[in-house]
Amino acid sequence: MQPVRMTLENFLSYGKAEVDLDGIQVAALIGDNGAGKSSLLDTLLWAIYGQGRAPEADNFVRQGEEQALVEL
Ligand SMILES: Nc1ncnc2c1ncn2[C@@H]1O[C@H](COP(=O)(O)OP(=O)(O)OP(=O)(O)O)[C@@H](O)[C@H]1O
Ligand SMILES: [Mg+2]
Repeated sequence: MQPVRMTLENFLSYGKAEVDLDGIQVAALIGDNGAGKSSLLDTLLWAIYGQGRAPEADNFVRQGEEQALVEL
């Protein structure tokens, strides 16, 4: 499988974000603590397996929002 694009909406700390993965074979996620690196991995896990780091689905919904969306 070659993921080409991730779309996030109200997922963890992300409001709206789109990540273009087209043509990327190997990537390093670099950023400050709390910047949202692991959240992007959770996006992959949630989209494929329906689960991630947190035990409850509600934990993945951005604080103050009612629902979240991820597309892979
Ligand atoms: N439901 C939520 N709503 C809003 N923000 C959230 C939610 N859950 C987690 N966060 C915040 O998301 C931010 C990003 O977390 P994440 O774990 O992706 O960062 P990271 O870049 O992997 O950090 P580290 O380098 O410490 O591993 C954190 O500041 C965290 O408080
Ligand atoms: Mg992390």
